[in-house]
Amino acid sequence: MRHFVRGAAESRSVGPVDVARWEQYFLGNALPFQAMWYSMAPGITSPRDCHPEVELSIVIDGTASVEVGGEITEVRAGSAFLLGSEEPHIIHNRSAGEELLVFSAYWMPGTSGADGSAALDGPAAEADQ
Ligand code: NI
Repeated sequence: MRHFVRGAAESRSVGPVDVARWEQYFLGNALPFQAMWYSMAPGITSPRDCHPEVELSIVIDGTASVEVGGEITEVRAGSAFLLGSEEPHIIHNRSAGEELLVFSAYWMPGTSGADGSAALDGPAAEADQ
């Protein structure tokens, strides 16, 4: 068992986003994906992101306003969102006073046989009440 303490993790700023990548734990090939935590202060918008990796994100604290294709989906703490390979995305923390904290796992499609595309074509999600 290994315990990953976020408060003790090394992080760096990517624009206005504080990113703590799990590379720092030297897991090598122990996991079939890479991972990170990221946090954003109230009112912050991330840089536009687009990458070949599929990205599965779980909101831990706050609400992520996830902008894809000009549409924004509110994803609250405890809920998750999946971004496809090369799907451009922008994350907003539109809260007035609450920090946004997200855990993301990401991987290259094909390396594990999982590319996320079938999930992205699934039924529309319920509104996140
Ligand atoms: Ni991304």
